[in-house]
Amino acid sequence: MAEDLTIAKGDKKAQYESLIPQIQGLVTGEPNLVANLANIAAALKEQFNWFWVGFYWIMEEELVLGPFQGPVACTRIKKGRGVCGTAWEKEATIIVDDVEKFPGHIACSSLSKSEIVIPIFKEGKIIGVLDVDSSDLAQFDATDQVYLEKIMAMIP
Ligand code: SME
Repeated sequence: MAEDLTIAKGDKKAQYESLIPQIQGLVTGEPNLVANLANIAAALKEQFNWFWVGFYWIMEEELVLGPFQGPVACTRIKKGRGVCGTAWEKEATIIVDDVEKFPGHIACSSLSKSEIVIPIFKEGKIIGVLDVDSSDLAQFDATDQVYLEKIMAMIP
C-alpha cells in the first residue's frame, strides 16, 4: 500500500481521476472499516482541502460521528434532521449551495457555506453517509456527486 498521496492539479474531474485509483490502493486488502474511512477522509481532505470531510455512521438509530478531517463536529444526528439526516431519510445524495437556505441545516461551524452528503450502502441497505463541507458557496455539483458516489462504493 502506498502511504504517500500524489496530489493532482487541474480541473475537478482530473483531480478525482487521479485520486480514485489511489483510494482503491489504500483500501484494497484492508478489512478494517475505521482504518478505511479514516484514510478516505484524509485522502479527500489532502486532495481538495475542503473545510470538513468525514463520515457519520448509522448506530443506535442515529447518525454517529465517524472518522473525519476538519474542526470538531456534532456527534449525533437524528433521521430527517439537517442535511445528513435528510440524506439518510431519502437515501439520496443532497447538494446544498447555501447551507443557510437549507431548512433545518445543522451548523457545526458558521464557516461552512455549502455541503454535499452522499449515502453509503452495503448490500442495498444504507449504513452511513459521507459529509463534505466547504467554506465557499456552491462548491459541489454533479461531478462531485458522480465521483464521491463511486468512492463510497469502493469501501470494502
Ligand atoms: N451540516 C450537517 C451536520 C454535520 S457538520 O456539517 C460536520 C447537517 O446539516 O447535517
